Amino acid sequence: MTPAHGGEPPAFLTAILRGRDISFREYVELCLYDPENGYYTGGSASRARHADYITSPAISPVFGWALGRLAREMAGRLEGAPVAVVDIGCGDGTLIRAIADSCGVGPTYVGIDRSLSFVSAELREARDITFATSLDAIPRGMATLVVSNELFDAIPASRVVRRDDGLHELGVTLSDGRLDWCETTAPAELVDYFASRGIELRVGQFADVTPEWGKAYGDICDRVDRGMIVTFDYGFPTKQLFDPRIRMYGTAAAYRGHEVHRDLFASPGQQDLTAHVNFDDLERSGIGAGFTTLEFTRQARFLLSIGITEHPLFAPVEERNFGAALAKQVERENARRLVLPDGIGDEIRVLAQGKGVPAGEWSFQRSRI
Ligand SMILES: C[S@@+](CC[C@H](N)C(=O)[O-])C[C@H]1O[C@@H](n2cnc3c(N)ncnc32)[C@H](O)[C@@H]1O
Repeated sequence: MTPAHGGEPPAFLTAILRGRDISFREYVELCLYDPENGYYTGGSASRARHADYITSPAISPVFGWALGRLAREMAGRLEGAPVAVVDIGCGDGTLIRAIADSCGVGPTYVGIDRSLSFVSAELREARDITFATSLDAIPRGMATLVVSNELFDAIPASRVVRRDDGLHELGVTLSDGRLDWCETTAPAELVDYFASRGIELRVGQFADVTPEWGKAYGDICDRVDRGMIVTFDYGFPTKQLFDPRIRMYGTAAAYRGHEVHRDLFASPGQQDLTAHVNFDDLERSGIGAGFTTLEFTRQARFLLSIGITEHPLFAPVEERNFGAALAKQVERENARRLVLPDGIGDEIRVLAQGKGVPAGEWSFQRSRI
């Protein structure tokens, strides 16, 4: 067991921890989504979120432009059927704005997030985009392209460790006024999570999991009558996610000031906490809801195959003015970061599933070649 961490925790945590220990999952829930103090919901709203981590839509608007192309491709293949584009876990709305700006197929645009505190007042007033906090805002009765970027890795996960006497769940306790780890026998739901997937962790192996990944994905599927769900996230299929040769310590990580670290108790509510997603959970849930898997690949391959390099930023810089050329070069480098074979282009996986749409000959299936 590691020693107690950091300074005195904030009052919103100590108020609870003085009465009882909490599971690590509950700790993450409070740190990210406490209405007043959560990283995504409260206390840090005045702070620019991208000071801590940067996602593809914020790296370059070309990400949204490429997904706009995909929406057009879908509309074209559905012969003019009205199309809605929905971004779930839309954060500050950057992605749905970029898709709407580039798309031009006349669809309905919806941004959904459990907290809209990062969407600017100006964007909320945009006439062409609806922002909502409930999945019920997914339009029914029309073809829908649902996208999400780093939604599932922001769903609080439980942290478990296998001991000699079985699976334990990690919790958080107060020790001398500071946060510290504690352990209890894991509840049946978590034991079943591994048993039902045929996974046996090694003694001493940690893992970060939540049955919510599959449930949340299923909730989205249930609201899409016809269309495609395209999920960008950090994660792996089951076998890789729990492979003891590479993941003895699980995947829970914290982001602060563009650095990833493992001090999960540092600055509660002021840093992002994530865990890699089990993509098999999403895929199985989608299949159970009548969806077919169209593709599962890396972000770079997906974006390249849907034609991201057709964007002018992938053309050579011809600007003669030095300052303008330099600025263009920076934009160009950012666009390239999305698809370079290291960093985000390699690490983020993409699952594309469809229902009531053709199963083959999509641009992104070229990445199989
Ligand atoms: C890591 S951020 C990604 C934001 C944005 N997609 C981007 O790429 O910049 C995760 C977002 O998912 C939202 N979120 C988490 N769980 C959610 C849920 N069940 N439904 C809708 N949004 C959720 C969070 O509030 C947060 O804005």
